[in-house]
Amino acid sequence: MPEIRLEHVTKRFEKFVAVDDLNMVIEDHDFITLLGPSGCGKTTTLRMIAGLETPTEGRITIGDRVVFDAEKGINISPAKRDIGFLFQNYALWPHMTVYQNIAFGLENLKWKKEDIKVRVQEMLEMLKIEEFVNRYPAELSGGQQQRVAIARTLAPKPQVLFMDEPLSNLDAKLRSEMRTELKRLHSDSDSTFVYVTHDQLEAMTLATKVCLINKGVLQQYEPPLTVYKRPHNLFVADFVGNPTMNFIDAKLTEAKGGYDVEFLGVKAHFKPNDKAFKLSGEDVVLGIRPEFFTIHDTGKIHALAYSTLPAGMETTVKVMLNGTLISSVVFGAIDYKVDQEINCDIIGDQVCVFDKASTNLMGQGSLEIL
Ligand SMILES: Nc1ncnc2c1ncn2[C@@H]1O[C@H](COP(=O)(O)OP(=O)(O)O)[C@@H](O)[C@H]1O
Ligand SMILES: [Mg+2]
Repeated sequence: MPEIRLEHVTKRFEKFVAVDDLNMVIEDHDFITLLGPSGCGKTTTLRMIAGLETPTEGRITIGDRVVFDAEKGINISPAKRDIGFLFQNYALWPHMTVYQNIAFGLENLKWKKEDIKVRVQEMLEMLKIEEFVNRYPAELSGGQQQRVAIARTLAPKPQVLFMDEPLSNLDAKLRSEMRTELKRLHSDSDSTFVYVTHDQLEAMTLATKVCLINKGVLQQYEPPLTVYKRPHNLFVADFVGNPTMNFIDAKLTEAKGGYDVEFLGVKAHFKPNDKAFKLSGEDVVLGIRPEFFTIHDTGKIHALAYSTLPAGMETTVKVMLNGTLISSVVFGAIDYKVDQEINCDIIGDQVCVFDKASTNLMGQGSLEIL
């Protein structure tokens, strides 16, 4: 199985830059999600790798084969790139049964009849659609149709499978089921998956690596938990996680063993994890995930419970601190009264410090409330 390499890939539509100097390597058997807000260039990126869109500049290699090179004028057609597609609007052939839908591509590839039979059976089992084998698409639910579409796409054993928001037409429950299945499918098949979504939860839960794009520019390309724990900049920090990270303006001044910091009337001491931590300006944005903003009796930050949203397993509490709302997520079901006085704390060593001017992450550390 090959790796896919993008080097300085740029796509311009006239003057508009849809994808800007993208460099990335998709390793063999990865499950990559291209994530970002609508219009950021996800579909364009996918289509360029697949050969459906011609990049303006750059080079794309699949395995040891250059499939696109702007300078050398190389552009291999999609059919010769050994790839499968699954798009949001997966049209099944309405006049064909499930069996025929899955077999059709293999017939086109001139597979032997016995081999087709075996492969279709494998696909029916893998996607748990055996009982529908003789039905027509109109006799299937949306989710069942979706499975047939996946089976049809995987049947020819594509080395790389491209998916562009394939679950967005499904309801929430089915979407969550299909996510489980897709992840399973990825480990059961030998294919590399490249998956486009604007849904951060989907991207985080499915991917071995998340490629987060904003306005055509790659923001971070790392495993989901790294993106969550160590976001490179404010955009990434804000895009990933729900409820979103709390952002609080603050000033840092150097002090013994770290930095003095004041925010929302709270005085604290910031101790960076990394000795090499360096400030470029004193104006920073503190980034605190809701699970690190805890509520307990001995907390040194005095605040009010603005509203409490128990969801059963966990509870989101909106905490009012000096006129600013902070999200806190606590495990278990609790229900504070409106404007109840509560005591809070900031735990752990994953408090992010972003440079206000550049929005880049400068480092992480712990906050001791004074
Ligand atoms: N054929 C085209 N001509 C002009 N602009 C396009 C074309 N295709 C896409 N774009 C623009 O490029 C940007 C990225 O589009 P796209 O890759 O589809 O975004 P995403 O999939 O992330 O929502 C959008 O602003 C879109 O309007
Ligand atoms: Mg798109």
